[in-house]
Amino acid sequence: MGIKILSTGSYKPLLTVTNDDLASCVETNDEWIRTRTGISERHMTNGEPTWYMGARAAERAIDEAGIDPLDIGMIICSTITNDYFTPSCAAVIQRETGAANAAAFDLGAACSGFVYSLDTARRFLMTDDRLKYVLVVAAEQLSYITDFTDRSSCILFGDGAAAFIVERSDAFCTSWLGCDGSGMNHLYAKVAHDPHPFVKDPVHTDDGTADDAPVGVLVQDGKEVYKFATKALPHAVKMALEGTGTGVEDIDIFVPHQANIRIIETAAKNLGVGLEKFYTNIGHTGNTSSASIPLAFDEAVHTGAVKRGQKVCFVGFGAGLTLAAMVFDY
Ligand SMILES: CC(C)(COP(=O)(O)OP(=O)(O)OC[C@H]1O[C@@H](n2cnc3c(N)ncnc32)[C@H](O)[C@@H]1OP(=O)(O)O)[C@@H](O)C(=O)NCCC(=O)NCCS
Repeated sequence: MGIKILSTGSYKPLLTVTNDDLASCVETNDEWIRTRTGISERHMTNGEPTWYMGARAAERAIDEAGIDPLDIGMIICSTITNDYFTPSCAAVIQRETGAANAAAFDLGAACSGFVYSLDTARRFLMTDDRLKYVLVVAAEQLSYITDFTDRSSCILFGDGAAAFIVERSDAFCTSWLGCDGSGMNHLYAKVAHDPHPFVKDPVHTDDGTADDAPVGVLVQDGKEVYKFATKALPHAVKMALEGTGTGVEDIDIFVPHQANIRIIETAAKNLGVGLEKFYTNIGHTGNTSSASIPLAFDEAVHTGAVKRGQKVCFVGFGAGLTLAAMVFDY
């Protein structure tokens, strides 16, 4: 059983940060960033919290679907940049949207998080007849955990949010979710906190991350992540299609995680699919982690680049290291 995406909505912060703007923080230049990543500019919050971006995107999706928010039975918010340890971003979005009958929780699977969330929504819809609509949101404020002194990573990220209203349907849908935790040390952001007052001799543990790594910001081994991503994309798509009788050639449009245009180009080649089938908007969004796939899809829907009846593939990869793909009839 599949899902029907009734509507989509998004929120892009009004503040735009260009490559030239970044060149005033770190030693870099527009040409280097564009040729290595495909990014020209990205949106960043001008103080809007993550919940605010998620709620505005959700309101747009609810308006477009023309549904009563009280008929939403569940809100799943994918984020790695919530404003609070607790409550969840989804709880705040529930308050903002008036979806008072909805269960609400966050899901953290980094840049694969929206595919994980959409698949979770599908499985809840499959098993609970009382559930009518699920609101699936991705809201990310990467600028919150970006190290603006690290030129190899700060050039990549942006902020934004997008939301879908989904319901159950009989349309084709298949998915696959994966993770390779042995690569967690290639991309991480450590939580900043002081030990409680009773700690004496702290237990020494080794998670493979650098002891002197900066805390509270993203640390990555760009080359390792690049290698992983170019293999993860084709692998996740093939795993999702396995045993379904549907082939890669049947897919009309791929909406990949918008990490880096070179990753997408190489991964498309590895999958044996022409780049023209890949929808990209990274040039003006940067990498917005789990918000990137729904942001790109919302844009594709509203510009007519994707149409009802087409077979669509979402494919994500990121910290964890996680990877996930979903193929469905739109
Ligand atoms: C980060 C990334 C763009 C770096 O590109 P790269 O071709 O691997 O570049 P390198 O790290 O080999 O660096 C090459 C040179 O450029 C320099 N450099 C790095 N960032 C730079 C910048 N923003 N501007 C100018 N020069 C830069 C390096 O210092 C290095 O200089 P050196 O040769 O004098 O030491 C690339 O590794 C990448 O995209 N990785 C995946 C990251 C990603 O997508 N993460 C999120 C996944 S969800």
